[in-house]
Amino acid sequence: MSDSSSRLVQPEARPDDRLDQALRPRHLNEVIGQDQVKENLSILISAARKRNEPLDHVLFYGPPGLGKTTFAHVLANEMGVNIKITAGPAVERAGDLAAILTNLHAGDILFIDEIHRLGKTVEEVLYPAMEDFALDIVIGKGPSARSIRLKLPRFSVIGATTRLALVSAPLRARFGAVYRLDYYELQPMCIIVQRAAQILKVPADQGGIEEIARRARGTPRVALRLLRRVRDFAQVRADGIINREVAREALNLLNVDPLGLDDVDRRVLNTVIEKYGGGPVGLNTIAASIGEEADTIMDVVEPYLLQLGFLDRTPQGRVATRLAYEHLGIAFPGDHRQPTLFDASNSE
Ligand SMILES: Nc1ncnc2c1ncn2[C@@H]1O[C@H](COP(=O)(O)OP(=O)(O)OP(=O)(O)O)[C@@H](O)[C@H]1O
Ligand SMILES: [Mg+2]
Repeated sequence: MSDSSSRLVQPEARPDDRLDQALRPRHLNEVIGQDQVKENLSILISAARKRNEPLDHVLFYGPPGLGKTTFAHVLANEMGVNIKITAGPAVERAGDLAAILTNLHAGDILFIDEIHRLGKTVEEVLYPAMEDFALDIVIGKGPSARSIRLKLPRFSVIGATTRLALVSAPLRARFGAVYRLDYYELQPMCIIVQRAAQILKVPADQGGIEEIARRARGTPRVALRLLRRVRDFAQVRADGIINREVAREALNLLNVDPLGLDDVDRRVLNTVIEKYGGGPVGLNTIAASIGEEADTIMDVVEPYLLQLGFLDRTPQGRVATRLAYEHLGIAFPGDHRQPTLFDASNSE
């Protein structure tokens, strides 16, 4: 089994990404790309400020590494409020959430990462908290038990999830604003790499920056990671300056191809194409063939391949597209075949 938990191009955070904290934009005008989300957020912020109210509850969803946590911090900064950070799996019991809620101050932001992983009983405490800023507590047991309602300060929840489909409908309904973050286009990716290079004082020219941006899978976190690796290469094997050739050599050596695909991606595509004739083939079958978890394929391999248009999802399973064949240098079936009698008699 390969170790996909340490892929250079994985979109989830790795321990070495801690260094990215310093690169995280603090204000909305420092956030690059995601223009529509930014515009919507700036309206949301202005409106809340004008009415002197806390921010509406906001839910961000989208693949890892695109800026959900960044946006949550930016919102807190822009509103000038405190942000309290927790995550779905960390809030185990209803009492844990009650403790968090009763410690909030008016206007505070409660950021709940991986919100799809909140337990059901915890969620039920969150509903009245988000809707009525109230906490229902049951006192006593048996027939004498009674419920009292505690008032909470008016606060805002910012939720983040990579799996919107796993967020229950009642929870989703309590968010006033829901935004999808999408993979970044090449141009904003270039600006993100350039900005990071500047802050890290890494000399890089336009070609070098573009080569890194192109191979970063539309994901800022991956871009910053690739930049660090290319910087190492440039310092050890070149004169320290990142140009296109240096970036290309460094990333080829790291097995990150010109579109940012690595071994795991190529194995998935090769399996679909060579073992299953291009598909359709089920996700579990692909996963079993290459010895990966189906969840890993679904969450971190497939989204980017779909984005590139290399895979299609059909009701029968995954199908490799012509683009995938071309990228791997494999002839697309049907392209070079001789016309047959059958074709001739059916020609329109
Ligand atoms: N729009 C952006 N402009 C500049 N840098 C960005 C942007 N979005 C993200 N980044 C950088 O990418 C890194 C990863 O972003 P972030 O941690 O916000 O992703 P995330 O969506 O919360 O990921 P996860 O789902 O894994 O929690 C940040 O440290 C930040 O430096
Ligand atoms: Mg995050």
